[in-house]
Amino acid sequence: APQTLRAVRGEILHFLSDPAAYGAAASEHFADGILAIRDGHVAELGPAEDMLAKLPSDIVLDDYRGKLILPGFVDTHIHYAQTDIIASYGEQLLAWLERYTFPAEARFADPDHAAAVASFFCDELLRNGTTTAMAFATVHGTSVDALFEAARQRRMRLITGKVLMDRNCPDFLRDTAESGDAESRALVERWHGRDRLLYAVTPRFAATSSPEQMTRAGRLFAEHPGLYLQSHVAENRCEIEWIARLYPDARSYLNVYDGFGQLGPRSVYAHCIWLDDADRARMAATGAAMSFCPTSNLFLGSGLFDLASARAQGIRVGIGTDVGAGTSFSMLQTLNEAYKVLQLNNQRLSATDAFYLATLGGARSLYLDAQIGSFLSGHEADFVVLDPQATPLLARRMANCASLDERLFVLMMLGDDRAVAATHVMGEPAGLHPALSKNSKT
Ligand code: GUN
Ligand code: ZN
Repeated sequence: APQTLRAVRGEILHFLSDPAAYGAAASEHFADGILAIRDGHVAELGPAEDMLAKLPSDIVLDDYRGKLILPGFVDTHIHYAQTDIIASYGEQLLAWLERYTFPAEARFADPDHAAAVASFFCDELLRNGTTTAMAFATVHGTSVDALFEAARQRRMRLITGKVLMDRNCPDFLRDTAESGDAESRALVERWHGRDRLLYAVTPRFAATSSPEQMTRAGRLFAEHPGLYLQSHVAENRCEIEWIARLYPDARSYLNVYDGFGQLGPRSVYAHCIWLDDADRARMAATGAAMSFCPTSNLFLGSGLFDLASARAQGIRVGIGTDVGAGTSFSMLQTLNEAYKVLQLNNQRLSATDAFYLATLGGARSLYLDAQIGSFLSGHEADFVVLDPQATPLLARRMANCASLDERLFVLMMLGDDRAVAATHVMGEPAGLHPALSKNSKT
């Protein structure tokens, strides 16, 4: 097949390393740049003037001048099956799970429901500029099939897995240590490494898995190279007391996962609010990652994430929306709330650090920075195009900005899905891919 070459022009920004460590040298910025894409991968990036001189004159060129092009956002923690209970009133974690979450997840026994929500979910991520997500499905294997299939049809990078829970949950959502293990293994065979899709072993949290299930989850995670593991840790005070009663011998909540071999590269833990320095040292030493979920942590009244301590210990950190406890699919709105969480902790989140976390930082926390997160040559060409003039207020405030840093900060504080002018996946405008969607086969 002939190679396809296309390009986009606009203001372009991406990160090559962590700005907290490397300052201005961590990023590359072109006020008027062109990103050239061959077969869905970055071919070259440079100033528009230079690039125009060397690209074929008949190239497909999307002109986004006046807009800002960034690598697609990476959402490191979200629940697709909670899409329909976002913004549910009144509870903290454990009551919220019982009252809203478990009933909503029960509906995913129906494959048609799962497929409909999965399609909406992927479209909503893309509408918000998120091109990669690490997502929880439900306890039903078919819910995993539905999400992988929706992502595949849109050519997205997506990590998900069957939720494991064999105790302390309603009967209608319960697997067994054995069935959960067997179903997970079948899903790994079917999906892991297919197209851009990756599998995550998914024990919901230590409270809903028996020691036997936890042992098997850790074993599966260790057995298969490249597999992920996702769970929740140290989110809510009552949850932590409960874990301490269930695992009286563990030094800490995180230590429970550690004891079952569930910490390591490609393990991602949501929340990580109530950890101590010994826990943080273990996360750093094992290469596990934290997902900072500010809108969820504020919505459920869980607590304030300590980014400075995570950073000081060199732990990988990404941003998660944690929909449906999180209140927005928008990474911009999530960065806005991250800023406020850190304010309450007497910490600061610069716009540069924030956009790093939402792109390359997220990719690094998922060990995917050789594929996504920046515009290095050969990387998958996923990007978001932000419109700094998207609303009257944005336009007015932008007129008062003197620097790129200031403009980025205004974008993350005032921006949301309205500021996303376009999202591209593998170089092309995002959406159902005509050659991959079922409807096109007929
Ligand atoms: N802990 C265990 N399950 C969940 C969940 O679905 N959402 C959140 N925020 N925390 C959890
Ligand atoms: Zn979660």
